Amino acid sequence: MPSSIAGRLTVWFCASAFSLVLVAAFVLYDAVRATVQWTEDQVLAQHFLEISSLLQTSKPDTDMIAHEVSAAANGHRQVLIRVLTNVRDLVLETPDMDKRLPATRFHAPAPSGTPHFETIDENGFRFRALSVLVPLAEGWPKDTVVQIAMDTTLDDMAVGRFRIVLVTVILLSGALCALVGWIIIRRQLSPLRRVIHATTSIERATANERLDTAGLPTELALLGLEFNNMLDRLEGAYSRLRQYADNVAHELRSPVNRMLLNVEVALSKSRDEASYRDVLESTREDMLTMAQIVDNLLFLARAESDEIQLQMEPVRLAEEIANVHEFYLALAQEKGIQLRIGADPELVIVGHAMLLRRALSNLLSNALSHTPPGQFIDITAHRDGARVVVAVADGGDGIEAEDLPYVFDRFFRGDRSRSSSERRLGLGLSITKSIVAMHHGLIAVVSTKGTGTRFSMTFPASMRAHG
Ligand SMILES: Nc1ncnc2c1ncn2[C@@H]1O[C@H](COP(=O)(O)OP(=O)(O)OP(=O)(O)O)[C@@H](O)[C@H]1O
Ligand SMILES: [Mg+2]
Repeated sequence: MPSSIAGRLTVWFCASAFSLVLVAAFVLYDAVRATVQWTEDQVLAQHFLEISSLLQTSKPDTDMIAHEVSAAANGHRQVLIRVLTNVRDLVLETPDMDKRLPATRFHAPAPSGTPHFETIDENGFRFRALSVLVPLAEGWPKDTVVQIAMDTTLDDMAVGRFRIVLVTVILLSGALCALVGWIIIRRQLSPLRRVIHATTSIERATANERLDTAGLPTELALLGLEFNNMLDRLEGAYSRLRQYADNVAHELRSPVNRMLLNVEVALSKSRDEASYRDVLESTREDMLTMAQIVDNLLFLARAESDEIQLQMEPVRLAEEIANVHEFYLALAQEKGIQLRIGADPELVIVGHAMLLRRALSNLLSNALSHTPPGQFIDITAHRDGARVVVAVADGGDGIEAEDLPYVFDRFFRGDRSRSSSERRLGLGLSITKSIVAMHHGLIAVVSTKGTGTRFSMTFPASMRAHG
């Protein structure tokens, strides 16, 4: 089988068209041959009927029969007739019949009197022949046999010619099928070549180059459409990746620049030990920031590439919430914020305790930095059907509606002015989101500016209780 579609289609097209022509030609040939033979048999039967009606009169007239026989021989089809009695005694026959077709060449007639048609080849001629046993009237010897034959060489020649014409037509139509099939199929496939050409000329997914699907046949138009959709998705992914790389570079540049500047200023003239100490302190601070950024990014990258094989185990949520609460209690009190917890002690999910604590801490530390004194923060966990919902709600500043879709993006920090006082990376929520995803959960946020914010993490509940 050829490897190209055009080649394969041509082969299949030719094979089917050719076999169709072949079958049609065979049926036609057979029908013509049968018809010719039928016509010959009709002529033989006609002559037999005439002879047998003469034989079956009460006193058969030999002269009449002889006349009939010679008339048949003179007709344009030259019919040979022989009448025998007692199966083999010759009564009369067409002159020369003995030389052309001896009586013994005929098939012995059936005793029942059924006519027997046959084809006999003799001396290079072909005959259609009939032999019948005739039941006779009294006064005429029994077992009279009538043998009739007709030279069909001409008919055979005509059928032979017809056969040659048929074979020629078959061969020609085979060649024509191949040629026409190839041309049609190549033409029908030309849009495919156009698509391939257009695809090759698209160099970058980012460029605004798309396949022109106008005028393409339906199947290819669908393919082109899907291809364009894929380019769109690639373009989106590519620009997000570029944006991300830009962000990383940007975030790392500030601490690096600061370190450079500090070191250069320190080196510009000799200073006392305290000044060097200051420079080293602030350099250490910046290095810490950078280390944190790199650590967090590595964590996110590994979480996304499914590289981390988590040791999952049943986790009692009430215990983890109590842990986090204890850790942040002092800070909350210092800020004058009321930190409340409420969780069913029986609630268990299958997960990674340390990561779940990290996710909770991120939400809580956000809430603490966006909640004014005198307000509250609630950490709750409750069961909702087959799910467990863990929520951190605060009565704090809230998030601008236009910022809401981006809070889980890497490096997104809503309130930039605040970031100067605290070292914020804008990675906390993206890390929380990926931890929730590792636990096959979902995270959602509801927030109203000035009223408060509620982050809720929904996990599948563990069916078995822990311990
Ligand atoms: N409880 C909240 N109330 C108001 N705004 C919030 C709250 N939680 C998050 N945000 C907004 O979402 C932004 C992104 O939060 P995220 O935790 O990802 O980053 P970050 O807290 O700024 O930095 P990081 O957590 O990496 O130190 C925050 O900068 C803040 O603007
Ligand atoms: Mg945060």
